[in-house]
Amino acid sequence: MSQMKHIDNIPSTPGKFKMEKSPYNRWRLHFSLAKLTFWSFVFLGVIFMFFFRSPSPPSPHSSDLSRRSLRTSSYDDPAWEKRIKASAKVRSRNGMSVLVTGAAGFVGTHVSSALKRRGDGIVGLDNFNDYYDQSLKRARQALLERSGVYIVEGDINDVALLKKLFDTVQFTHVMHLAAQAGVRYAMENPSSYVHSNIAGLVSLLEVCKSANPQPAIVWASSSSVYGLNSKVPFSEKDRTDQPASLYAATKKAGEEIAHTYNHIYGLSLTGLRFFTVYGPWGRPDMAYFFFTRDILKGKSIQIFEGANHGTVARDFTYIDDIVKGCLASLDTAEKSTGSGGKKKGPAQLRVFNLGNTSPVPVSELVNILERLLKVKAKKTIMKLPRNGDVPYTHANISSAQRELGYKPTTDLQTGLKKFVRWYLSYYGNGKKSAQ
Ligand SMILES: NC(=O)c1ccc[n+]([C@@H]2O[C@H](COP(=O)([O-])OP(=O)(O)OC[C@H]3O[C@@H](n4cnc5c(N)ncnc54)[C@H](O)[C@@H]3O)[C@@H](O)[C@H]2O)c1
Ligand SMILES: *[C@@H]1O[C@H](CO)[C@@H](O)[C@H](O)[C@H]1NC(C)=O
Repeated sequence: MSQMKHIDNIPSTPGKFKMEKSPYNRWRLHFSLAKLTFWSFVFLGVIFMFFFRSPSPPSPHSSDLSRRSLRTSSYDDPAWEKRIKASAKVRSRNGMSVLVTGAAGFVGTHVSSALKRRGDGIVGLDNFNDYYDQSLKRARQALLERSGVYIVEGDINDVALLKKLFDTVQFTHVMHLAAQAGVRYAMENPSSYVHSNIAGLVSLLEVCKSANPQPAIVWASSSSVYGLNSKVPFSEKDRTDQPASLYAATKKAGEEIAHTYNHIYGLSLTGLRFFTVYGPWGRPDMAYFFFTRDILKGKSIQIFEGANHGTVARDFTYIDDIVKGCLASLDTAEKSTGSGGKKKGPAQLRVFNLGNTSPVPVSELVNILERLLKVKAKKTIMKLPRNGDVPYTHANISSAQRELGYKPTTDLQTGLKKFVRWYLSYYGNGKKSAQ
């Protein structure tokens, strides 16, 4: 977690190289971005993206080292191209070739390896940013490497790199999972959300719309778009115009941007609203993960409760169920209809909830962990802060059930057992523990 602290809070501007000479720079000085509302901030992000586009903007996270390696790795290197082509090789009849963004991430790793196992061709893309422990991302990369999946190290805002990838491989599908995740971190580093979830999404869609043939795109939205909506279970048609965090606002913006690219360019787009995904190789910034770490260390954990001692509950969804939903989305995605950057006919536009449909109180999550770890947790009960987390999530998955054949099969007890088994084998029994 200490790594998360030093990340600069300076609002980064995608493509900031030309900032010095720009009149917008002076303009920026007079305004504190922090004072702007969510939506104007989101809007600004899009504007900035268009004014300051450049071939290779640095990620707000990426170290100088990784930035340099990105620059020096020539896109015309035949060995590099060969590696990409080998990784993209389709090994099954009617297999697809998929660009997976965020491949070194939690969901990206699982989806990539599942696709590879069934014979699809995969190229990963990830900027390996330091939002959480980078060694975990490197370990996932090593895991994929062993199964023949190559992850290109780069940013989704790097349009030149994306174009090069599409020139090298005719991707039939894009599984877009790269994003700045996390609800509370948005107050520490708001610009990273605009950079990856808005500017990055637009860069990716720009390249997809110009590609020949255009790929079909499946991407991760979030259950957080339901925000302050209190009608449960959450159905896709419910209102999503009251986001409770900047993270949620950028995902909601993504859904609107998806609509635009579908409408103007005929891109086939499927947005998946994931509900609290957990499992082996998971994310250290999520409660089930750091509760496990802290319980093993004998460190006290904070359990949130809602207003009037109300329960805080989550529709925890096991990673294997999410992977099935992702693969079914790719399999049922229709082709994009545009070519030469122009729409030729109406294209598919979908949004699905992918949840488990059984919310579990966070206190029960802790009980299960205590039993699995055979350690009693030291708990402090706290009021849920009003900085983005909502008290309750519950997915209505009837639409995904109907259209994708999606049917989650892992309950929290079973899924956590698998997570704990992985955690103990990866970190050892508390001696070498997660950061
Ligand atoms: N895990 C959940 O509970 C959950 C819930 C709802 C939505 N989601 C969404 O699902 C997707 C995957 O989530 P995850 O849990 O695997 O998160 P993750 O942080 O483990 O994975 C995201 C990956 O994307 C990479 N990345 C971030 N910005 C990038 C950029 N600009 N260019 C290239 N790579 C970049 C990161 O390095 C990381 O490896 C995300 O879009 C997330 O918002 C996740
Ligand atoms: C779930 O969503 C479907 C639409 O996909 C809707 O018809 C149904 O009424 C919803 N169920 C509940 C309990 O809200």
